[in-house]
Amino acid sequence: MELPPKPEPLDVNFVRQNFPAFSSAELSGSLFFENAGGSYACADTVNALHDYYKLNKVQPYAAYNASKHAGEAMDQSRRRWAEALGVETDEVNFGPSTSMNTYVLANAFGAVIGPGDEVIVTNQDHEANTGAVRRMAERVGATLLEWRIDPESGLLDIAELDSLLTDKTKLMTFPHCSNIIGAENDVAAISAKAHQVGARVIVDGVSFAPHTFPDVAAMGADVYLFSMYKTYSVHQGLMVLRNGVAGYLPNQGHYFNRQIPTKRLTPAGPDHAQEAAAGAVLDYVETLGAHHRVMGGTLRETVASVSSLWRAHEAKTLAPVIEVLSAAPGVRLLGPAQLENGLHRCPTVAFVPGSREPSDVAGALVDAGIMCSSGGYYANRVLEGLGVDPDTGVVRLSWVHYTSDQDISTLVKTLERVLGLSA
Ligand SMILES: Cc1ncc(COP(=O)(O)O)c(C=O)c1O
Repeated sequence: MELPPKPEPLDVNFVRQNFPAFSSAELSGSLFFENAGGSYACADTVNALHDYYKLNKVQPYAAYNASKHAGEAMDQSRRRWAEALGVETDEVNFGPSTSMNTYVLANAFGAVIGPGDEVIVTNQDHEANTGAVRRMAERVGATLLEWRIDPESGLLDIAELDSLLTDKTKLMTFPHCSNIIGAENDVAAISAKAHQVGARVIVDGVSFAPHTFPDVAAMGADVYLFSMYKTYSVHQGLMVLRNGVAGYLPNQGHYFNRQIPTKRLTPAGPDHAQEAAAGAVLDYVETLGAHHRVMGGTLRETVASVSSLWRAHEAKTLAPVIEVLSAAPGVRLLGPAQLENGLHRCPTVAFVPGSREPSDVAGALVDAGIMCSSGGYYANRVLEGLGVDPDTGVVRLSWVHYTSDQDISTLVKTLERVLGLSA
């Protein structure tokens, strides 16, 4: 029997059927453009959490059924995410948030870094991936070096990194993508440079992972972090520890658990329900893979194919928004219009609306049904580096693969009106 044609590009109607929020009466008439703050959860996530709370909300890993099921679901989430990210199961760690994961990491690195050592941070990071590391370097007497963004483009120039890396560099942290300028950094190239001098590498993938579930192994970073509440899943931070980092860093958990790699740097202990439901989003990805007939032999392959569909849809929807913001008088668009070399310009779009207050412009957009906001988004150093006052901040519009063409065209028309390009 001949198969119907492949639904390509991304079938956004089908995507949206997998998100309960989009069929709810409460959301009708509102368009969601604050995804960089947190995404809606897919139905698989909502159902998995519901089922866990209803049936299995007991202490996991005991011999009775409810407890066995709870533990199995938690283990399954870890195994599935490991396969999705292309890493080993015991390299996947769940913590309460990315901020908490980086805080614990920084503390642990403080025990192996000292005077005479050098640590590189950037001013392109969200504060979560830089503040704790900066404080640690100061506390232990290490030298802190800052890889700074270009004050116009907001981009990090990889050529400048060469002058910062030395054989004293022990650690460097940087973002896969900034939550203000939306530009993907070449993690593999940067990690390779850092590794050449023997430095360890921490990458904040929070603003990138919602757009592509990453091939973490291929990027080579020692630590890769993201927040699952922005990837259609639960409110937990996922931290991949590779290249022996979990064993190299001193144990931060209970002493009797020190032999368990996934307990060494997550002292908060797991939120059982969220850990059990964390893997359900990958069922959703497989549903998309099957619908578009791009299922691979492994979950990693399916995730990669589905992520390509997401990226292509995002690139298409980004262009008209960039165009209208670039044409609006007095508006300063932050970040590049597009990127080269296959790097993704994520649809996280921040702008300074000329002499108007960002909060006024965001308010006018909200009044028109565009769910968005203004502010500094914990990216004070990025904004200062771009000459923008973090207290007034920017208007930020951010979307993902489930944002429809119709949403984009309404956004564009509303922006034209609010920014004075049309009546
Ligand atoms: C780029 C980036 N990094 C880190 C974080 C912190 O993540 P969490 O809220 O899980 O601590 C955020 C949160 O918005 C973020 O946007």
